[in-house]
Amino acid sequence: MCGFFGIVFEERNGGLGQILNKAGERLSYRGYDTAGIAVFDKNSNYKIFKDKGTIEEVSDEFKFKEKSGYKGIIQLRWATFGAPSKENAQPHDDCKGEIVGAHNGNIVNTHGLIKELSENGHTLKGVNDGEMIIHILEEEMAGTGDFGKAIINTNTRINGDYAFIATPVSSDKMYAVKKGSSLFLGIADGYICASSDLISILDHTDKIIPILDNEYVEFTYDKYEIKSLLNGSKIERKPEINNLNVEEIKLGGYSHFMEKEIFESPQKFRNLLDVMEKHDAYKEAIKTIRNANNIYLVGSGTSYHAGRLGTYYFSKIDGLNINATFAADFIERYGHCIKDGDLLIAVSQSGETKDVKNAVDYFKKKVNGKVMGVVNVLGSTLAYNADIVLPIVSDIEISVPATKTFINQCGVFLYLATAYSGKGIDRMREIPALIEDFLRKEKEHLGKLAEILKNERDLHVLGYGIMYPIAMEGALKMKEVMYIHSEGMYSSEFKHGPLAIVYDNYPVIFLATSEDKDMIISHINEVKTRMGSVYTLAPYDKEIEEISDYFIPLDNAEYFTSPILAGIGLQLLSYLIGVKNGRNPDRPRNISKTITVD
Ligand code: BG6
Repeated sequence: MCGFFGIVFEERNGGLGQILNKAGERLSYRGYDTAGIAVFDKNSNYKIFKDKGTIEEVSDEFKFKEKSGYKGIIQLRWATFGAPSKENAQPHDDCKGEIVGAHNGNIVNTHGLIKELSENGHTLKGVNDGEMIIHILEEEMAGTGDFGKAIINTNTRINGDYAFIATPVSSDKMYAVKKGSSLFLGIADGYICASSDLISILDHTDKIIPILDNEYVEFTYDKYEIKSLLNGSKIERKPEINNLNVEEIKLGGYSHFMEKEIFESPQKFRNLLDVMEKHDAYKEAIKTIRNANNIYLVGSGTSYHAGRLGTYYFSKIDGLNINATFAADFIERYGHCIKDGDLLIAVSQSGETKDVKNAVDYFKKKVNGKVMGVVNVLGSTLAYNADIVLPIVSDIEISVPATKTFINQCGVFLYLATAYSGKGIDRMREIPALIEDFLRKEKEHLGKLAEILKNERDLHVLGYGIMYPIAMEGALKMKEVMYIHSEGMYSSEFKHGPLAIVYDNYPVIFLATSEDKDMIISHINEVKTRMGSVYTLAPYDKEIEEISDYFIPLDNAEYFTSPILAGIGLQLLSYLIGVKNGRNPDRPRNISKTITVD
């Protein structure tokens, strides 16, 4: 999964290097295995500067900011095809130096293409799938002489989901193609840019044109034309104003975006409360849930955990069953059960997770039902494909480990379940202050617990009932930030085998609500009697505190708000442990913010 950005000015632009570099920084959460730029002048000269490394490292190596030209492309890789190396870095050029481009996504027939292109005499520099696109464009261009037709023909030869950007070196046109991965066009004053990500375009303009699957767009500095990727027919689409707040992307005195975004949660939750009460989509959502046959829910990673918490809210508040699974499992698990009139709730902060897109596409193709998107990035693929879009209004989340968006996703489900039952949401208004008080009072205790846990390489997080999804989420945060083996489990399940893992001082984090005290005490004792160490987050309870080796109170938390406080507590705990270990929590190794491949 990668990110790219391309831009075309009318004339030579001295600031091209800075603009490409800044776009690369905006894209850095999508991939930091390799980075590269291509810059072009009006005399059909171009240069490509690329290497293994983060955008900062490669930009320093080649002084990206000093480059000039009238058009340019930057691309960052999260490696799928081809190890992170200079050869596999993007952008790529063809054998004759006439076409340059870059992509995001997965060309699943890359190995066959490498063989075919080699047999056709191409000089392949690496094994990256993005390179193969450029060589196929080279072949198709040789055959048609028309770049648009070459794109259409190329699309028939490459399989998979992707978006790519490419430009003939001698032309002032740039082309961007969308088939399964995100692509946006930005119309600025005196120039046009295209990108896999809204964020990198919003620095330039709020006039955004979403490009849809099986479309491509050709653009110069002041004109654009959208065409069908299947037959080249023209498609009219006007720019939409997108008012996502990019100014948010500053650390503002925090050490990392993860820390900033954790502490932003209360304010983002307040924004959410306002929107949920006023936004028609939330009213429509209640009606849609009421009228639905069966209800399914999908999400990936942290978003899945928020959705799982939602299923407990709907069950316990409304007696409503929601069938939830990982987005990647939806087709296998429920693809044969879904029927007309069903509702699919898709939870994705980026709106670009491919596993979620696959589930939504399958559902829409298979049944006449409704898709409800719980999404942060408006204008995203999910926001475009959903019948009902529930914005979680967290503003841009930069840190790869999701934090504020998770809290707001939980808030969405608590609101929907509460409103569905006709109850008022007055109690929800207390949540932002509850979070603020908790963060203020318990940051120091969480710091102490981080000190205790900072050298652990294995641990369990156990939760009962409504706390189970938070146990999974807490364990995921430990994995993402600390790269340790941590497992989130249902506390009752722990005795059926995993208890065998416990040795002296084996660390087990317990999450409890006041209502489940007896059950949790029994589960804690099962660990304590085997000399394990128990660290508990729960509303204050003397007995639980006494049997725990360390206790973090979820002050004033009620049954339905305990999971939210425990969730933010584990976010901060994992962050603090990560910093104690010298990690950069915002950009964990091997993973990225949005995975737009299968
Ligand atoms: C993963 C991220 O790639 O995608 C997780 O590392 C995230 O942090 C998951 O929760 C789902 O992302 P999204 O955008 O669909 O919520």
